[in-house]
Amino acid sequence: MFTNIFLYLIIISTMKQKITEIKQTFSSDLKICETIEDIEPVRIKYLGKKGAVTEQLKQLSSLSIDEKKLFGPQLHELKEYISNEIDKKINFFEEKLLLQQLASEKIDFTLPGNSVTKGKTHILSQVTDEINKIFNDLGFVVAEGPEIETDYYNFSALNFPADHPSRDMHDTFYVDHPENLLLRTHTSGVQIHVMENFKPPVRVIMPGKVFRSDADMSHSPVFHQVEGLYVDKNVSFSHLKGTLQYFMDRFFKGSKNIRLRPSFFPFTEPSVEMDVQCVFCGGKGCGMCKQTGWIEILGAGMVDPNVLKNVKVNADEYSGFAFGVGVERLAILKYGITNIKLFYENHYYFLEQF
Ligand code: PHE
Repeated sequence: MFTNIFLYLIIISTMKQKITEIKQTFSSDLKICETIEDIEPVRIKYLGKKGAVTEQLKQLSSLSIDEKKLFGPQLHELKEYISNEIDKKINFFEEKLLLQQLASEKIDFTLPGNSVTKGKTHILSQVTDEINKIFNDLGFVVAEGPEIETDYYNFSALNFPADHPSRDMHDTFYVDHPENLLLRTHTSGVQIHVMENFKPPVRVIMPGKVFRSDADMSHSPVFHQVEGLYVDKNVSFSHLKGTLQYFMDRFFKGSKNIRLRPSFFPFTEPSVEMDVQCVFCGGKGCGMCKQTGWIEILGAGMVDPNVLKNVKVNADEYSGFAFGVGVERLAILKYGITNIKLFYENHYYFLEQF
């Protein structure tokens, strides 16, 4: 009995001492936590499976009912206390983090805003629009045709004989070879579509993309043309010449000397190539005109009667002229651009100049 009481007292005092000790070490352990991450090891140290409090709770089972009644609630209170203190500290850190975040994300309404740069019409579209406008004023209307064509519209209907070397003038991209589907090599095929659908008089301007297997400083495999066609009674070569002169003067703003050289296209007869007096040196000779004083600018001619026949227009009654001009070429000459690739690279600082 005595030994029991003696033991009892020892247990009571060690238990009490243990509880105060745990409380103290816990408090100082928690105090030195500097971040939220530092807290978890402390929780494990006291409340984990082998934690100090857990160990004490395990020992309860070896005590008598009275002892359990005495220490059970005290240990549970300790456990509760530790877990509350831990939660408080976690909340404290979370709040601190949130405040830091809010402070760093604060919007300064006095900062100047980022300006949004406006896009604008691409230089090639601008030049195309300008050409269309000049011809609209002369009574021409805009028409468009397909970029994928059959051999018939791109060549045969335009009087290119089959297997004739004139087809080699255009290095053609075939989409489907024996089926004769191809990427149009020029906009002249649109002449055929228009004349199949509209009876003369026709006055049309036909802008569009064309494709040729060719690439260097001045050639791109995809480029743009504008085709013109005028078919009516009594259309003569002088109408062609006057129209082109008017176009040049308006496009290059000022009176420009032009010259027409005999040339060949299967769909025009006679055919010409038109040169304009060098817009850079005024005809003295420079790098841009290869010292000749002249710059080749477009192909043109009187519509070949065979073409009119192909679209069932009476060539005895009607005549016409046609011309085709490269849009890139006109833009290069108007703005002194030296590399055709600049048109397609979409660099803002190049495009914003126009
Ligand atoms: N289609 C010709 C070319 O691409 C240009 C042209 C059009 C010539 C109309 C005469 C008449 O080179």
